[in-house]
Amino acid sequence: MGIAGALLRSKAVAALASPHGVDRYLELVNPMWAAEEVRARIVDVHREVDVPGHPPVATLTLQPTSTWRGHRAGQHVQVGVEVEGARRTTRVFTISSNDSRPGDRFQITMRANPDGVVSKWLVEKAQVGTVLHLSQALGEFVLPDRVPEHVVFISGGSGITPVMSMMRSLHRRTHRGRITFIHYAQSPEHQIFAEELDEICRSGFGTDVHLLHPELGDPALSPAWLERHVPGWQDLPTWACGPAPLIEAVQGAYGDSPELRIEWFKPPRVATGDAAEGEVVFSRSGVQGENTGASLLEQAEALGLAPEFGCRMGICFSCTARKSEGTVRNVLTGETSSLPDEDIRVCVSSPVGDCVVDV
Ligand SMILES: Cc1cc2nc3c(=O)[nH]c(=O)nc-3n(C[C@H](O)[C@H](O)[C@H](O)COP(=O)(O)OP(=O)(O)OC[C@H]3O[C@@H](n4cnc5c(N)ncnc54)[C@H](O)[C@@H]3O)c2cc1C
Ligand code: FES
Repeated sequence: MGIAGALLRSKAVAALASPHGVDRYLELVNPMWAAEEVRARIVDVHREVDVPGHPPVATLTLQPTSTWRGHRAGQHVQVGVEVEGARRTTRVFTISSNDSRPGDRFQITMRANPDGVVSKWLVEKAQVGTVLHLSQALGEFVLPDRVPEHVVFISGGSGITPVMSMMRSLHRRTHRGRITFIHYAQSPEHQIFAEELDEICRSGFGTDVHLLHPELGDPALSPAWLERHVPGWQDLPTWACGPAPLIEAVQGAYGDSPELRIEWFKPPRVATGDAAEGEVVFSRSGVQGENTGASLLEQAEALGLAPEFGCRMGICFSCTARKSEGTVRNVLTGETSSLPDEDIRVCVSSPVGDCVVDV
């Protein structure tokens, strides 16, 4: 937008547009005009996987507003949609296309969670022309500026999205080193980006692709498998993303190696041990139950409550609630906190003993 953009972002215009903000007015004229916010129009919907009886997977190509600042491969965005006219719901999806510059088109790829609100709607209902609300790109699960000579990507299911973005970016940048790409899917029919991976397998590009289907008899990930197929794997920088059992197997192999970087789509499973004692009280709802050691969000849902949430991974803060008593453990970092009257994100907080939270 150039000068017009600078003008629209000025304090004077913000004061005139108060209290709604200039973007509310621009959106009314044209949903693709924005001074600060990021929105994107869907320009293509592509079914990646459609196995009868299984949740489909689709890739949406998005044309963002000029406010999009670009992304680094591996980052994600918060996507907000108004499903069936309801209040906007926001969820997190990784950008699956190669790294983008300001204003560039990019893609997100998602599996339609049959119990979910947003992914199902995006895969089954969203159409070319639909406008989505976005955040800027977020996340630290990215390649370093100087990419090492040999990198390893390990993924499972829809966890392929960030590492596919990295591999696509490296190919685009004509990376001269080696890439080892290991992916686990239920079956060849469930393979996301199958054609492109097949093409890479055939043409090489310095990339070893291993597509594995343990449910059909392929070996699960283990140090012995890595030894055989990825010589020197312990010393190679590795990026891994996928379901909890795969990530636990990767962690089992690499231990606390600094070469391993992990992206979780869901919080890791909590090993409660003796910690799951006491009672959890959801004070606003007047509901209480025995502490199961799961996150407070999951415990509330198990008791029939429906607290607000967005990412379920501690990213968006929409689940923040006041804890008035007790100790909670952050399931991502393992850190505990016992401060009274503290705001916590219930999606990543697991109570250690008795706990009272304003939900
Ligand atoms: C950093 C990051 C990147 C991601 N990237 C991708 C990606 O590229 N592709 C992709 O497919 N996914 C990705 N995800 C995962 C995706 O964000 C989640 O699967 C998200 O929950 C999908 O939103 P949804 O609205 O479809 O489902 P949601 O409505 O969020 O439901 C998700 C699950 O929450 C539970 N739940 C919800 N409400 C209740 C309730 N009231 N009671 C009990 N249980 C309930 C259910 O188990 C349901 O299956 C990513 C997640 C993160 C954190
Ligand atoms: S739901 Fe996003 S921080 Fe908890």
